[in-house]
Amino acid sequence: MTDSTEPAAPKIHIAASRAHDFVAAVLAANGVPADHASTVASCLVEADLRGHESHGINRLPSYVARLRSGAMSGAASPAVAPVTPCVGRVDAANCLGAVAARAAMAAAVDMAKGPAGIGLVGVRASNHFGMAAWVVQQAVDAGLLCLVFTNSSPALPPWGARDRLLGVSPIACGAPAGPRGRPFVLDMAPSVAARGKVYRAERRGEAIPEGWALDRDGAPTTDPARALEGVMLPVGGPKGSALAIMMDVFAGVLTGSAFAGHVASPYDASRPADVGHFFVALRPDLFVSANEFRDRMDYLYQRVVGAEKMQGVDRVYFPGEIELVTKEERERTGIPYVEAEIAALNEEARHVGVEPISE
Ligand SMILES: NC(=O)c1ccc[n+]([C@@H]2O[C@H](COP(=O)([O-])OP(=O)(O)OC[C@H]3O[C@@H](n4cnc5c(N)ncnc54)[C@H](O)[C@@H]3O)[C@@H](O)[C@H]2O)c1
Repeated sequence: MTDSTEPAAPKIHIAASRAHDFVAAVLAANGVPADHASTVASCLVEADLRGHESHGINRLPSYVARLRSGAMSGAASPAVAPVTPCVGRVDAANCLGAVAARAAMAAAVDMAKGPAGIGLVGVRASNHFGMAAWVVQQAVDAGLLCLVFTNSSPALPPWGARDRLLGVSPIACGAPAGPRGRPFVLDMAPSVAARGKVYRAERRGEAIPEGWALDRDGAPTTDPARALEGVMLPVGGPKGSALAIMMDVFAGVLTGSAFAGHVASPYDASRPADVGHFFVALRPDLFVSANEFRDRMDYLYQRVVGAEKMQGVDRVYFPGEIELVTKEERERTGIPYVEAEIAALNEEARHVGVEPISE
């Protein structure tokens, strides 16, 4: 588990394939074409498999609310257009974020595999794409390195201020593994914890750790409901706040999407979100040979995981590795959900006549 608050309630385990089919069926019943529905389901289920339930299938009710209100378009498809031989522009046309992200990373990968060796794509008019590692994995699976940036709705103050202005959108990047290692997959919100973890704690009736958030009066809180009225705290003080601004410069200002506090929340069903993304994919053999790159990644991996452990630590992980360990376990055991989460998902299914995920 990578989330820091361990749920107390008993869990119902659901196989990943069942969760995928359920999500795809509910989305399809809400007017989303089957291929788009399957893409979004893959992204959400992968988050649950990797231990990031904050970005898993429990996002379904909020996505469906936006589809039903017309704030997000289930039927829309992203349009990819070239800007230069190694730069592309995507107008996501307010489609589902995972659909836009998949098309944009596919374009970046295609360009990186061409003579330029690099592909850079800016996306405008998109929506929340969920777990950034899912987008990173697409480039890593193609044997490439990548950067994955997005902006998001305001949740974090600039350092020294008290009102929400910046997103807690993830900074993510990746590199393929050597033959004996694991891929490098960094995927981190610039806040102490992702805001989705506060929503998850609220759903599950749990407290959040101190140091994650302030309430609306600027006081520290462990109550998720009060935290959601207030602000998230940046990781590393002004450094985290600067990273959030960096996401807005590349994913918002540069791409033509909303920025500076104007992206709508994925829980706001009243208006399009206008999220921006910025992706780069590049070949690993631009400066050293492909074999050398793999050997050097192996060496780095071994140096990191073989580092002398501090007291009380069982294992040193490479970025992204702790999630793979969780995924391997959940592929065997199923994904654990609490009853209230299953009930909310079944309620969505009932609305559109889809079989419940679990009785
Ligand atoms: N789409 C959005 O707008 C949005 C916004 C915020 C967060 N998110 C998602 O929320 C998820 C959670 O974000 P987070 O910042 O809370 O993640 P996190 O703090 O759990 O992990 C951050 C990074 O640290 C690494 N890590 C964690 N524990 C480790 C350990 N013990 N040893 C070595 N490395 C370790 C992880 O592999 C990861 O790369 C991410 O998947 C992110 O994409 C999405």
